[in-house]
Amino acid sequence: MIFLRNFIFGVISAFIILIGILAYRQNIFQPESLPYDDEQAGLDEQVVINFSHVVAENTPKGLAATRFAELVNKKSGGKVIVYIHPNGVLYNDSNELEALQNGNVQMIAPSISNMTNKLPSWQLFDLPFLFKDDEQVAAALTGQLSESLLEELDSLHIKGLTFWSSGFKQIAANTPIVNIEDFEGLRIRTMPSNMLKQQYEIMHAIPITTPFTDIYEELDSMQIAAQENTISNLFSKGYHKTHANITLSNHGILSYAVMINEGFWEELDTETQQIITDSLAEMSEWQHELAIELNEENLHKLENNKEVSLYTMNEEETLKWQQAVRPIYDVYAQRYKKYMKLLLNDLEVQNNK
Ligand code: LMR
Repeated sequence: MIFLRNFIFGVISAFIILIGILAYRQNIFQPESLPYDDEQAGLDEQVVINFSHVVAENTPKGLAATRFAELVNKKSGGKVIVYIHPNGVLYNDSNELEALQNGNVQMIAPSISNMTNKLPSWQLFDLPFLFKDDEQVAAALTGQLSESLLEELDSLHIKGLTFWSSGFKQIAANTPIVNIEDFEGLRIRTMPSNMLKQQYEIMHAIPITTPFTDIYEELDSMQIAAQENTISNLFSKGYHKTHANITLSNHGILSYAVMINEGFWEELDTETQQIITDSLAEMSEWQHELAIELNEENLHKLENNKEVSLYTMNEEETLKWQQAVRPIYDVYAQRYKKYMKLLLNDLEVQNNK
């Protein structure tokens, strides 16, 4: 009898202690909300944007993201905070789009080439030797064509905001690349774009698609003998230390589509939306200039680096390369002729300025 009484008493006591622990952990004994202090004022209204990208901070994209964060913060009086996550620390270029669509981050700025699997018409920008100079690139990235291309993001439930530039791409390799014959059998890393792959295949090279953040590993394991990229991307990651033969070919461009999660965007009030679009518009010209300056500045450093061998392609060599890729050019220019027309208009407008 005594045993039974002790047993029941023990069970009830254990039950009460357990309820006590659970209540404590759920903060039931705490006051409902924290006491008010000035620092919390406005926290409810704060807008936080996580902006993920894959390159270094001292690149045209990295610095533009930082400037964007500063501008929106200033214009919103501190209400909008943009946290920049560079160098692929959160997501790389093969999973950042999904992260944006899932709302794990609110903004990204992938390269146009990286988007071509989802939006094939964007391959137009990967056409070899499409642009003569930086002015033409800026005209295309800010004109009518760019507006139409940004609208295509609606089909992916993404709000397209603007395009940024990283400038012209060059070839960096283990061995000197001068003539198109030098591409024969060359294992060259490209971004994931069929157009890019085809232009190397047509020259009998072996294109290898790797996320930007994995290039180091591929270099280590000697999987790639060459890559195409802008001088600022090559320099900021130190790729010139391995791929020390750099051919200045200006054969293509690297540009970015700045985009924001659609649901997140729609929930922002119109004033905040305006602050975001105004900030991007305000820095657009500066961003294009920045890409030019950084590439020049980094090129200058490479010129002074005895370990690096720079070669500028002459007209004849360029012409041979252009002729080799001509069939691809014709197919794509025909396939996307509506956009080609817009592009020619943009270039015309820029010419008449
Ligand atoms: C690359 O993969 O080479 C580029 O897309 C990296 C970047 O974002 O500039």
